[in-house]
Amino acid sequence: MRQRPTHESEPAATPARGPLSGLAGQFGRPAGLAAKLIGPLLVWRGRRLNPLAVKLLQPRWADRVLEIGFGPGKAIRFLARAVGEGLVVGVDWSEAMVAQATRRNRLYMHLGAVDLHLGCVTALPFPDGRFTRALAVDSFQFWPDQARGLAEVRRVLAEKGRLLLLLRLRRARRGFPRLPGFTEQDLPAVEEMVRRAGFLEVRVERREAGVPVAAVFGTR
Ligand SMILES: C[S@@+](CC[C@H](N)C(=O)[O-])C[C@H]1O[C@@H](n2cnc3c(N)ncnc32)[C@H](O)[C@@H]1O
Repeated sequence: MRQRPTHESEPAATPARGPLSGLAGQFGRPAGLAAKLIGPLLVWRGRRLNPLAVKLLQPRWADRVLEIGFGPGKAIRFLARAVGEGLVVGVDWSEAMVAQATRRNRLYMHLGAVDLHLGCVTALPFPDGRFTRALAVDSFQFWPDQARGLAEVRRVLAEKGRLLLLLRLRRARRGFPRLPGFTEQDLPAVEEMVRRAGFLEVRVERREAGVPVAAVFGTR
């Protein structure tokens, strides 16, 4: 596991919000003692989301997959099984999540099939064109600078490489708890941002995973 600097100060493009704090902060960057509870909660919360993400990404044997914001690392494990002799690399800016995901994926890491990094999506420690697929599950809403993050993900994707952002949709801007998240109304702006980052064949599909979900696809 390599250590990378993180970037917390850049403004978010969508949805509008201030710095992460309280419960939102714990979902956006779990830390400290609370992370011991948040980790299992994320596993439960993502029990349908992560398998759906892997299914939609359609990883193939020998793919090199990058996951941003892997949290407790459930999708990492599913992906490692799917790519066989390929490689699954994760980046998450929470030390606690890197530790939990490392425990969960210890065997695959030992085999060299999984590599987990502490870092922020806005400064990815990889050369251009390294990956064939990239995904972020329930994470994009927390990125401090989404346009810059998308540009970084595009940079590390190979030509024709595929992007998947899986977004858990809020039913409305109101409600409790007020976690950052996208509504149906935000989706055109997200789609436009992915297009502006230079991705091709951008499209949004609606799905259900216990909650309404939007899958945003793009191709490098
Ligand atoms: C709500 S959790 C989702 C975890 C996992 N993808 C899942 O669905 O179970 C969001 C995760 O994204 C990570 N994250 C948020 N912003 C990030 C950023 N800018 N760079 C890297 N990781 C980030 C957080 O630390 C957290 O682990």
